[in-house]
Amino acid sequence: MTGKIDHTSHDEAPVFPSAEFAAQSSLNAEQYRAMYEQSIQDPETFWGNIAQELHWHAPWSRVLDWQEPHAQWFVGAQTNVAYNALDRQVDSGLGEKRAIVWEGEDGEIRTYTYSDLLEQVKRAANALLTLGVVKGDRVTLYLPMIPEAAIAMLACARIGAVHSVVFGGFSVSALADRIQNAGSKVLVTADASYRKGALVPLKGNADAAAQKAPILEKMLVVCRANCDAPMQPGRDVYWHDALERASSEHEAAALDSEHPLFVLYTSGSTGKPKGVVHSTGGYMVGAYLSTKTVFDLKAGDLFWCTADVGWVTGHSYAVYGPLLTGASVLMYEGAPNHPDWGRFWDMVQRHKVSVLYTAPTAIRSFMRAGDEFPNRYDLSSLRLLGSVGEPINPEAWRWYWRVIGGERCPVVDTWWQTETGSIMLTTLPGAFPAKPGTAGLPMFGVDAAIVTRDGHDVEDGQGGLLVIRKPWPSMLRTVYGDDERYVKTYWGEITGVYFAGDGARKDADGYITVMGRVDDVLNVSGHRLGTMEIESALVGHASVSEAAVVGRPDELKGECVVAFVLVQDGHTVDVDELRRHVSREIGALARPDAIYVADALPKTRSGKIMRRFLRQVAAGQEISGDTSTLEDPSVLERLAATVAQ
Ligand code: PRX
Repeated sequence: MTGKIDHTSHDEAPVFPSAEFAAQSSLNAEQYRAMYEQSIQDPETFWGNIAQELHWHAPWSRVLDWQEPHAQWFVGAQTNVAYNALDRQVDSGLGEKRAIVWEGEDGEIRTYTYSDLLEQVKRAANALLTLGVVKGDRVTLYLPMIPEAAIAMLACARIGAVHSVVFGGFSVSALADRIQNAGSKVLVTADASYRKGALVPLKGNADAAAQKAPILEKMLVVCRANCDAPMQPGRDVYWHDALERASSEHEAAALDSEHPLFVLYTSGSTGKPKGVVHSTGGYMVGAYLSTKTVFDLKAGDLFWCTADVGWVTGHSYAVYGPLLTGASVLMYEGAPNHPDWGRFWDMVQRHKVSVLYTAPTAIRSFMRAGDEFPNRYDLSSLRLLGSVGEPINPEAWRWYWRVIGGERCPVVDTWWQTETGSIMLTTLPGAFPAKPGTAGLPMFGVDAAIVTRDGHDVEDGQGGLLVIRKPWPSMLRTVYGDDERYVKTYWGEITGVYFAGDGARKDADGYITVMGRVDDVLNVSGHRLGTMEIESALVGHASVSEAAVVGRPDELKGECVVAFVLVQDGHTVDVDELRRHVSREIGALARPDAIYVADALPKTRSGKIMRRFLRQVAAGQEISGDTSTLEDPSVLERLAATVAQ
């Protein structure tokens, strides 16, 4: 990591919001500037005022206590995120408003008003208490995109249990590791889930994971499909039975502002994913303010964030943020191309979605499938579009704006991370023009800078490392069970600042373009994968003695996984079997697109694999850079020949 990054893309012409959109928008450029200025100069007053819009069971004595790199926000205050998301809304007269409109892949539709959702959450909270869950306990959720996922998250938040949502696409081993690492005694899962017309056997995976995670004692099983999964007496309880038996009365626990709200595992540059820990008060305030301002939500909006609750976007913008602002949320269980690539647009038309937030990979897939799908539907209910998870190429941005948004809807490109908890960079839709391919300006309280490896600002237009120089409320508090890793990874790489792991550049207007990861983390279809995590899965197979994994640019996925493996003596490598092995170890999302069998890897004399060269080889590029530090530079030619075959 040198801190100097070359870039080639040219700046795109700005796209302005229509006068009509700007006129109805809640924030204009001057208001943003004044608020931003205060949020940086006087963060305690700024965040104190924002937090007052929410309910606190007890007030704070100080807004911020910053003992670098540990922050406490709203020190001494007590609150409850579920109370703020539900009870507060019902008390203010939104009881009959739709909170969640859910559509199953099979077409089933369920609607929960704020009152309905509150009742379900109270019952689920009581059901968890009956299972022996107490404040501070971790509860793992391995669920499809069904309302019960949001209900279970909110029920945990209500009693002060710490949820750890594991994406339903993760394998048995990945699930077991995360249960064990978090020390969860309770798992909430479902019998199965519909995906592309088939059933995904979640309960079967959960049973297998339980074998590998001895800490697990109880399983709460939502019946989504046929209710025919085998249940283990004494361990497994059906969700519907438990909720039916549970009381619908429950008072939300008053929790310390710094009480952990959730753990969410994400990939880093070592072999083991890390459990990112978020707090109650700070996360709540960050999710609330960002949802309200970035999506410019109005009373009648139907907000659809298509992310799965297994990722941070699903936490902050499919559940917590919108409910904290009293919005109506659309939730969808299945695949975007079931029964065909028109599914999303059919849903936008039928449900009259007004704000849509999705990922560049999805946008590129829709683009490839052809305009005829969106053109079949009336998308005039849409008024704002959002993008998240990876850099969006200007071509996809323009397609989204033109074909989906009818050149009428601003597109907000939002940069943030599991660790940041809420959106950090974007252009507020009614206040500023967007520049396709560029995330934009810092959000309130975000003191972003582009620096060199030794922490010096780079000039505008130059590539460098993206850092944040001040604490913000929704920042991660630690890595679960490994505070040292938190300190070292985030605040130890570049002295005194939070290092995001991304390369970026800033233009003369202050707009920041995020160019991608500069560490050993891949971003495949907007999902983070650690190269070392995949390498350790590969060397876990008997036939592999060594492995090196790199990313290769991919038109659809942004980046795809390429592996180079050395064969263990006495074995032969079956590439398809190895790909299946990685799926079993991590999940299908980590399956390498290509695996090349090599006789050696490009290493320095001290034994370090030079991934930089492997990336060039994988992409079929000319080798550039100094190869003289390699023990055997001729390795590169042989690898290039293998890739070219
Ligand atoms: O590299 C950046 C990329 O996704 C990473 C964070 O991934 P994750 O923690 O899984 O969170 C994804 C959803 C917030 C970042 O380090 N990334 C995310 N959004 C953007 C982005 N890259 C460019 N532009 C974005 N809008």
